[in-house]
Order: sequence, then C-alpha cells, then structure tokens
Amino acid sequence: MENRAPVRLGILISGRGSNLQSIIDAIERRELSAEIKIVISNRPGAAGLARAEAKGIPVRTIDHRRYQSREDFDRALIQALRAHEVELVACAGFMRILSPLMIEAFPNRIMNIHPSLLPAFPGLNAQQSALDHGARFAGCSVFFVTAGTDDGPIIAQAVVPVMPGDDEASLSERILDQEHRIYPYAISLFQQGRLVVEGRRVIILDAPRLKDLNAMLNPPLRS
Ligand code: GRF
Repeated sequence: MENRAPVRLGILISGRGSNLQSIIDAIERRELSAEIKIVISNRPGAAGLARAEAKGIPVRTIDHRRYQSREDFDRALIQALRAHEVELVACAGFMRILSPLMIEAFPNRIMNIHPSLLPAFPGLNAQQSALDHGARFAGCSVFFVTAGTDDGPIIAQAVVPVMPGDDEASLSERILDQEHRIYPYAISLFQQGRLVVEGRRVIILDAPRLKDLNAMLNPPLRS
C-alpha cells in the first residue's frame, strides 16, 4: 500500500471523550497516520475538550442550544470543519443527529461508533437494550453516517460476550475496550484509501483474513 498523507480529522464529541483519547493514543503510537485538526463539542465543558487541549489540539464549543434549527447548527459545524480543512469527520460520543446538510457536505466522510452490533439496538441505551433483550453477544460498530440513525454502511465490528451477572456498567466497559481498538483501526483503513462503499456494504481492500473460521458460541457447548 502506497504511503499516503496523514488524514486530516475533525472529531465531534459531547462528553467524556474516551474514544477521542483512543484516537490520540493511536496517533502517538504511530498506528494511525492522522492529524486532528479540530475537536468540536456541542456541550460546553465536555470532559473530552480537556483531553484535546492537553495535547495542544485546537478545540471549539459550538453549543447547539444557541442555534434556531438543526440546519443552522450544522452550518456552523461545516464552516468550522472546512476552516480547518478537515477530510474525515469522526463522531465520538457526539449526541446530535446530523441533518442532510452535514451528510451531503461530507459524503462517506463521516464516521460514527455505536455500542451495539448494528443493526441491533440503534439509538440510545444500546448496552442496556442488549441486556434486556437477553442477547448472548454484544459489541460495537464503526460505520459511515447516513441520514438514518445508526444505519450507515458498517466498516468494522467487535463482538463481546454477555456474561452471567453483567449489568449495564460491566457490559459497557467490556464493549468500550473494543471501541477503543476498532475506531482508530477503521480510521487508519480510511487513511490508507482502503474503504470502498458499495451501497450498504463497505469493501476493505487488501483485507486481513480471519485466521481460523471460528464460530463463537455463548454459552460454549461444553463447560
Ligand atoms: C461510546 O460508548 C460510543 O460508542 C457512544 O457514546 C460513547 C462515547 O464515549 N456513541 P466517549 O465519550 O468516547 O468516552
């Protein structure tokens, strides 16, 4: 694979920013060739802003409550992202639905991460929904954002088992560990020019193969 320039990222957050941190860390470890041009929060004082500031990354707060409509808010987002010459937008715990305006401004250039094995459990409280449903497996998905909620072409997923005695906190933590692995990886595939969107599917060029065609069973057949 040819050497490409670092991808210019804009990261959108609303809160804690642990996925943002995983992206920062992957860049520092040189596992991801990227430059974070700007981190934007729609919530003033979001903890993730401090993580970015600590690394000297430019931050902005664009408070959605100060805009009349979703479109006006998105226009402000687009302007800030363009001003920083962002190529790829990564939503990382960003709790706003994007309007078609934003999606058309960055077609197949907006990623998001969701704490479920999509298309199961889109929307809020995905981990609790998996527990309530009695699922034996849960996980997380990185996908390209489209108009529907958590509905876009899936780039990468990680599966975790639901364990006896799990509650929302324990399951969320197990899933979050995997989010921190697959999000930087999905971005690196983009940076390498290896993601081709064909309808609902994302083709990964030169995709690594699963070593063994292992099924995962939960519970295992014998204990
Ligand atoms: C993560 O679980 C992510 O999947 C979801 O919101 C949470 C954000 O966590 N979209 P953080 O702000 O990245 O720590």
